[in-house]
Amino acid sequence: MTGSMSKDSSVEWFGVAPPDLTLVSRVRGDDWVYTYLRTFYEDSSKQYGVNNLVYPGAAMPNVLAALQGNQQLTCKQVPIIANNGGEKRDNSGNPVTKEKCGFLNVEEGTGSLNQEEFDELIYDLTNFLTYVGDPDKVERERIGWYVVFFFIIFTTLSSLLYREYQKDYH
Ligand code: HEM
Repeated sequence: MTGSMSKDSSVEWFGVAPPDLTLVSRVRGDDWVYTYLRTFYEDSSKQYGVNNLVYPGAAMPNVLAALQGNQQLTCKQVPIIANNGGEKRDNSGNPVTKEKCGFLNVEEGTGSLNQEEFDELIYDLTNFLTYVGDPDKVERERIGWYVVFFFIIFTTLSSLLYREYQKDYH
């Protein structure tokens, strides 16, 4: 893939040039790419107002924000787990909770896609990046079946031949 942005301009604008995305899924893994593209969140301390959960301090702007909407890091009250594995409760039987932060939440109505559609888009995008990282894989898998088939036939014929040879000794 050839990008239209020059390396020098990118360094000037973002402080770093984007790596070759053709190989990103092979270097980082497809699950990393999938999660990376879904976990941009608002962070006003950053140059482009966004940060990333799996790649903290990423220089890339959130180019998919219009589709996903404004995603923020939020805190939630979560139940405390007791020693017996169940939810801890107070004397009146109400669950005891504690505040836990680091949850992602998309502000409703701010993106043109809903959560499911956006996830599907990222799934397709990740699949595409995985494909371009190793386009021959599909062909290798196809040929692989012929190789397996060949070995099955070859092994069968060899063992039949072996049995024939054995007859001469007995
Ligand atoms: C849908 C389009 C895009 C996809 C799928 C994408 C994907 C990625 C991925 C997977 C990385 C992490 C690579 C790594 O470090 O291993 C990355 C980094 C980066 N991307 Fe994008 N990108 C897109 C669009 C853009 C655009 C439009 C820009 C700038 C105008 C941009 C700028 C950057 C920069 C500067 C980095 C380096 C981040 C750093 O190392 O801190 N990206 N991109």
